[in-house]
Amino acid sequence: MRMRHGAGLMCRVGFGVAGGLLMLGAAQAAAGDVERGRLLYQGRCSACHAPDYHGVGPLHRGVFGRGAGKAPGYDYSPALKAATLTWDDASLDRWLADPERLLPGQRMGVNVPDAAERADLIAYLKSLAPRQSLRKE
Ligand code: HEC
Repeated sequence: MRMRHGAGLMCRVGFGVAGGLLMLGAAQAAAGDVERGRLLYQGRCSACHAPDYHGVGPLHRGVFGRGAGKAPGYDYSPALKAATLTWDDASLDRWLADPERLLPGQRMGVNVPDAAERADLIAYLKSLAPRQSLRKE
């Protein structure tokens, strides 16, 4: 009898904690977390991208709000060069979910299936505000 009572209590406590974590997860998915985005960026993007210099992919400072395929000095694919969209929450979300579906013929062979991770990455990209004096190269 006493054993069963104890187990029931544990169960209720466990359930409460899980519910709280779920709510926390939902709030973060909606807003996007810059610090988590920075860590994801280091792990999944920095092989090809950096905020301030071109690598395999174009630099990312100021990308939020910029036209697709418009970072000066980077040799984009014809698909990106011809793109007319501007990078905002919605277009970046679609790009990261499936770049080839958004702009067929593009050259980034990477996608991020998890919506919460995309939101975090976008929050981080948004935090890379353009510098006053950009080097023109
Ligand atoms: C394997 C290399 C590689 C990785 C890893 C990679 N990218 Fe890219 N990315 C590219 C290339 C190449 C392009 C240019 C595509 C083109 O010209 O078609 C690009 C383009 C982009 C663009 C468009 C930039 C612009 O100026 O229009 C964004 C945004 C972007 N990547 C975000 C990301 C994010 C966020 C990650 C990490 C989840 C990531 N990329 C991971 C190679 C990569």
